[in-house]
Amino acid sequence: MKVLILGGTRFVGHLLAWRLVAGGHRVTMFHRGTRVVPFADRVETLLGDRTTGVLPSLIKGREFDATVDFGAYVPGDVEPLVDTVARAALGHYVLISTGQVYLLREGCPRPAREVDYDGPVMARPEDEEGAGQWDYGFGKRMCEDLVSHEKSHATRVRLPMINGPRDPHRRLEGYLWRLLDGAEVLLPDGGERPMRHVFSEDVARALAEMLCNERTYGQAYNLAQDETPTLREVLERMAWRVGAPAKLVPVSTAEIEAEGLSMRAVSPFSQRWMSFMDPTKAKSELGFVHTPLWEYIDRTVTAFLGHPPSDRPEGYTERRRESELARRVMRNG
Ligand SMILES: NC(=O)c1ccc[n+]([C@@H]2O[C@H](COP(=O)([O-])OP(=O)(O)OC[C@H]3O[C@@H](n4cnc5c(N)ncnc54)[C@H](OP(=O)(O)O)[C@@H]3O)[C@@H](O)[C@H]2O)c1
Repeated sequence: MKVLILGGTRFVGHLLAWRLVAGGHRVTMFHRGTRVVPFADRVETLLGDRTTGVLPSLIKGREFDATVDFGAYVPGDVEPLVDTVARAALGHYVLISTGQVYLLREGCPRPAREVDYDGPVMARPEDEEGAGQWDYGFGKRMCEDLVSHEKSHATRVRLPMINGPRDPHRRLEGYLWRLLDGAEVLLPDGGERPMRHVFSEDVARALAEMLCNERTYGQAYNLAQDETPTLREVLERMAWRVGAPAKLVPVSTAEIEAEGLSMRAVSPFSQRWMSFMDPTKAKSELGFVHTPLWEYIDRTVTAFLGHPPSDRPEGYTERRRESELARRVMRNG
């Protein structure tokens, strides 16, 4: 196949590009060139900034069998691609979306199925964090709506939080640094809320397998793991895996906020805006299978221990205040 990847150099896009190259496909990648691509000599690179509107002219006259779009966030990113010329050029268009599209839906069930997408959307929250998260989900919804018509050759793929090596948000990695530094680790609200995420490699494989599959045209799919661990379970597993004592200290969200700490930085898996999706449709229609949770956690830990990054994730800067809060909470019983 001739595949165009819009993005492809950071996380899942990077894994997908590797996978397609390894599979003997002809890969073209469009991005700004901010990262080194280890397989650059085996792909065609189109350099450009999508926000400048340069993309349609770069692909004019070209014909790809499939295009995977990792960089569509607002309708303006997709609009230039839906005109007839661009559609012919793109082939099967796969839009990378998010489980966030369900969080905006009034009364959306958890877990959310693909059919739960339709319906009224809640008002934009007033608080800064809620507004930002709502904007992200709403932007993705508008991108989806542009390509979801009946005769569409597009597939919408909704993803929850993605874990794995190279995660640019450095979520699991942030917990690992904390477990390894020997100080207490905050467990917001006891860390008992079930979560359903997905492993990056499983997404890349599922994407590669769905390209040019006509059955997926016009469809949306949730790609998510079956397991629904709590944060406490994940941290205990990772602590065991690295040989550290799990000094987990339950604290309330209110205590974290009163300390002026951001939940996103302290414990990204405890954020209020976290989707919880039902992957049944992808499993039954696409044969989606995923790596067992503990296996992928172990692999991510191994990759971290083998090549620990030279710096700490952004949220780690307030680490001392986190452990002070933990000790205070423990002292106060
Ligand atoms: N990570 C998660 O937990 C999660 C969850 C749900 C959905 N998603 C979705 O996953 C997608 C991102 O996945 P990824 O990071 O794995 O993708 P990726 O394709 O590996 O990386 C993003 C790519 O976009 C390029 N890019 C960024 N800004 C650009 C611009 N203005 N013009 C051209 N190219 C640009 C980057 O390269 P340059 O910097 O060189 O331009 C990079 O190649 C997003 O659509 C996000 O909504 C992620």
